[in-house]
Amino acid sequence: MKKITVAVDGYSSCGKSTVAKALAKQVGYVYVDSGAMYRCVTLYCQQKNLISAEGVVEEVKLKSLLPQIKIEFVNNAETGKADTYLNGENVESEIRSLKVSNHVSIVAAIPFVREALVGMQQAMGKAKGVVMDGRDIGTTVFPDAELKLFMTASAEIRAQRRYLELKEKGQEEPFEAILENVKQRDYLDEHREVSPLRKAEDAIVLDNGELTPEQQNEIVLKLFMEKAED
Ligand code: DC
Repeated sequence: MKKITVAVDGYSSCGKSTVAKALAKQVGYVYVDSGAMYRCVTLYCQQKNLISAEGVVEEVKLKSLLPQIKIEFVNNAETGKADTYLNGENVESEIRSLKVSNHVSIVAAIPFVREALVGMQQAMGKAKGVVMDGRDIGTTVFPDAELKLFMTASAEIRAQRRYLELKEKGQEEPFEAILENVKQRDYLDEHREVSPLRKAEDAIVLDNGELTPEQQNEIVLKLFMEKAED
């Protein structure tokens, strides 16, 4: 078996992280949630009042403060999952709030933010043995990844999933507001100038709306084995 790189891209809330985490656990790879990194920068902007309610970012200030943003993934012994830390603070729950979701596509479209985070992601995957999920992993971060997956599901299915996730965490929001956010983020992610969301030519499409998690994991593990075999 050789160590490979696995890129999992696709729309928001279509099960990318579930698939990526399950695969990483099964094969003993490191899982990296690149979306969490864009969410951290967004939360940082909100903490420092660098973003207006309408979503206008003070880019000059953000650029000068960017080197001060430290993002880490730390294993939580209680949940067995990695939590996201922003400058030493556990922000795992806060970065998933609708407040952050509503502004993250704007922050993720800023070229110098992407450049900085792509650099960090490439460093994290340098030694291979990584499963990373996001929007541009197979196209920009790791264009040479041995296995590339592109996940899709309808906006309604994805909004329903996000609704239940938030409800479970006690952050209940109206379904319509979440659906609107999902559609708006799809649009912004697909139409931004730098690294827009698109399927890499060599990516394999998985429609998450049509498969059970078990079926999905089985397919993904089989694809992984084919690529990792010497
Ligand atoms: O996967 P997610 O919903 O947590 O991602 C949050 C946002 O970050 C999403 O609107 C798109 C953006 N993103 C990106 O532009 N590039 C990535 N590699 C990952 C996420």
